[in-house]
Amino acid sequence: PRVLVLYGGQSSEHSVSCVTAAGVLGAIDTDAFDVVAVGITATGQWTRPVIDPRTHAFGADELPRVLPTESTVQLHSGAAGSSERSAELLEVHPDGSSTAMGQVDVVFPLLHGPFGEDGALQGLLELAGLPYVGAGVLSSAMAMDKHYMKIAFAAAGLHVGPWVTITDRQWSQDPAAALERVRALELPVFVKPSRAGSSMGITRVDAFDQLEEAIAAARKHDPKVIVEQGIDGREIECGVLGSHAGSPARASLLGEIVVHDGSQEHQFYDFNAKYTDATAADLSCPAELPDDVSDEIRRQAVIAFESLGAEGISRADFFYTGAGEVVINEVNTMPGFTPISMYPQMWKATGIDYPELIAELISLALE
Ligand code: DAL
Ligand code: MG
Repeated sequence: PRVLVLYGGQSSEHSVSCVTAAGVLGAIDTDAFDVVAVGITATGQWTRPVIDPRTHAFGADELPRVLPTESTVQLHSGAAGSSERSAELLEVHPDGSSTAMGQVDVVFPLLHGPFGEDGALQGLLELAGLPYVGAGVLSSAMAMDKHYMKIAFAAAGLHVGPWVTITDRQWSQDPAAALERVRALELPVFVKPSRAGSSMGITRVDAFDQLEEAIAAARKHDPKVIVEQGIDGREIECGVLGSHAGSPARASLLGEIVVHDGSQEHQFYDFNAKYTDATAADLSCPAELPDDVSDEIRRQAVIAFESLGAEGISRADFFYTGAGEVVINEVNTMPGFTPISMYPQMWKATGIDYPELIAELISLALE
C-alpha cells in the first residue's frame, strides 16, 4: 500500500511532530510500504518537504519545522460514490499547473495537538474516504480536550484527580467566580490549556496569587483552561495498541518518567525536560512496580482506551500514589513517536520493535 505520512501541522507541537516524522520515515519498511511524506506548515499549507525531516537535527537552538513552498499539495478523493478507498495527491504550482504525486491508500497522521490530533484532520480523511492510523473523529476530539477526557474516564469508573474547568465565557463574564472555584483545590495546582500538548502553556502554581498569570499563559494556547490539583505520585505510562477484529486492545509493559530532583529549571516534566534537556528526566522501562500494581495499571489503560473509543494507538498516563492507588492523568491518541519516545520504548520492551510497530499500526488502519 501507498502510505501518506503527514507531519508538522498548525499546533504548538509542530516541531515535536517533525521529530516524530523523522523517526518514522527513517524506520518504516520501504519493501512493504511505498511512502510519500507531506509536511503541513505552521499556517496550514500542505507542502512537499524541502528539508528531509530524517536529516534535520532537533536541538535546543533550532527546532525543526516545515518550511512554506511555492507549490501546495492537495488531496483529491476518488469519484463520489465509488467504493474505492484511495485518493490522489496533486502538487499545484503558482501558475495553476499541477504535478500528480500518485495515489494514497492509507494516511499516517503523525500530528500532535489541535488540527492534527483533535479530530479535525480525521474528519477530513473520513470525507475523503481514506483509512488512517489512530483514533477517529470523536475519540480524537475527546482526548484532545482534557475536560471531556476526564468526564469519559470518570464515567468508566477510573479515578481522576480533582479539577476545575474555566471556559472562555466564564472567564470573560466572571473571573472572580472562576478563581473562587479554583481556591477550593489544594495547592499546588497545575494550570493547563484544555486543548494542547507537550506541556505547552502549563504552569505549576504554588500560591493562589500566581493564578491569574498562569491562566493568562494557558489562554494563549486555548481560551478553555483547566486547573488540576497536583497529585503526588510516580508518573507511569502505558502504551495501548488496538487489535485486529474480535480481540481486546493490547497494553504494553509500563514506563516511568523520572524527573531529576534538584533540577531547579524543571518543576515538572515540561516541554524542555521532554525535548531539549536530555539530563532533566529519564524514561525508565519497564517501570519497577509490584506485579499486581503493574497489571492493574495495564488493565486501566485498556479501559481508558475503550472509554474514549480510541483505535490503533494511544498512550495512557497515570500517577501511582502508592498504597495501590492509581489516578489517570490523560491519554494521547498520537503520542510522541520517535524511536526514543516512551510509546515505542514500551512496545520494544514488550516485544514489538519500532519498524514492526509502524507496520502493525498501518495494518490495523487498513483492516
Ligand atoms: N503530546 C505529546 C506528543 C505526547 O503526549 O507524547
Ligand atoms: Mg500529555
